[in-house]
Amino acid sequence: MKVLGVDTGTKQYPIYIDDSFSSLANAFEKAGLKGRKMCIVTDSNVALLYADKVKELLEGICSHISVCIFPAGENSKNLDTISDFYKFFAEAHLDRRSVLIALGGGVAGDMCGFGAATYMRGIPFVQIPTTLLSQVDSSVGGKTGVDFMGNKNMVGAFYQPEFVYINTDTLNTLPYKEVAAGLAESVKHGYIQDTDYLKFFMENKESIKALDPEAIAQVVYGSCRIKSYVVSKDEKESGLREILNFGHTFGHAVETLSDFNMLHGECVAVGMLAALYLSMKRGAVARKDIDEARELLEYFELPVCIEGFDADSIYARMFNDKKTKNGVINITALRRIGDAYTEKGCSEKEIKDAIKYITK
Ligand SMILES: NC(=O)c1ccc[n+]([C@@H]2O[C@H](COP(=O)([O-])OP(=O)(O)OC[C@H]3O[C@@H](n4cnc5c(N)ncnc54)[C@H](O)[C@@H]3O)[C@@H](O)[C@H]2O)c1
Ligand SMILES: [Zn+2]
Repeated sequence: MKVLGVDTGTKQYPIYIDDSFSSLANAFEKAGLKGRKMCIVTDSNVALLYADKVKELLEGICSHISVCIFPAGENSKNLDTISDFYKFFAEAHLDRRSVLIALGGGVAGDMCGFGAATYMRGIPFVQIPTTLLSQVDSSVGGKTGVDFMGNKNMVGAFYQPEFVYINTDTLNTLPYKEVAAGLAESVKHGYIQDTDYLKFFMENKESIKALDPEAIAQVVYGSCRIKSYVVSKDEKESGLREILNFGHTFGHAVETLSDFNMLHGECVAVGMLAALYLSMKRGAVARKDIDEARELLEYFELPVCIEGFDADSIYARMFNDKKTKNGVINITALRRIGDAYTEKGCSEKEIKDAIKYITK
């Protein structure tokens, strides 16, 4: 088992990276949560796969444990589901000392976290992420929330868990398309912060794609290390944390225009290529860097080009991004591979040329 520390200044907590659930009960004890009332919050798919196992492991160390299940999928990520959670929590007599356990992907994590942040003005919660995206990205950093009026993550709170427990073995039941979406975010971590990590990806892509336990443990560890470093420096996204948006301004526009039929990670993959192209045009990276990125993403079966959207509509959509401030599109670009920054001065032509690179 590997352990990483997150320190946001307001809270310190560990991330455990393991290939089983065997140390889970121990992690609760270490966090001082033994003997509490607990409630697992999970979606309908993950409930069938892992809820019994997790419940059984924790039964001996808690006073009572219940399982609150919501229908799987982004469509559930709204205030109605949160309201159902509150009713469930109240009926289970959860109090301020009770512990919520987010078991599942980013949807379960974001919603359980928001439930924990708001029920009785905040109760402790733990993250047990089971998708690659949630293991390398959403479970670390304390962003919680729900979608509202068609806007992703419009209502939410920064709220940190007591700890994150990652069992990489859960990835073996995850459809490959979802695995690939998580890999896109991990590759992003390499581009923005760490050339060695990126090199590891390039050199081990076969074993990563095959979910070789050693390789996947390295991927999860590397990404959590980078993400926890970034959020430790800037919990509330007032500066450095913005670099995590690499590929996202382009990606979000594609995601909305696809009516969310493309997975977030898939949109981030094409978005990264657009951002790399823009960085190349500014002389920051070489053509061979983009070719390499393209080859890697293609190998992971991620989209590197999109059809059916024109550059103008994607550009127009980028203005609606919540990261677009005062009519200026902020693009996270690269100074060089492994070093990202936010560029506020991109011209319309530059942005459209980058879009054309991924729409041809
Ligand atoms: N908080 C953050 O910082 C942050 C960052 C990135 C994304 N997000 C959010 O995360 C969400 C996306 O997360 P996601 O991609 O994990 O989606 P998800 O939670 O919907 O999970 C994807 C699918 O996989 C299923 N699943 C989960 N674990 C499984 C397993 N081990 N085996 C088989 N099936 C499994 C789920 O039931 C679901 O159908 C979005 O709502 C996004 O806004 C949040
Ligand atoms: Zn993302």
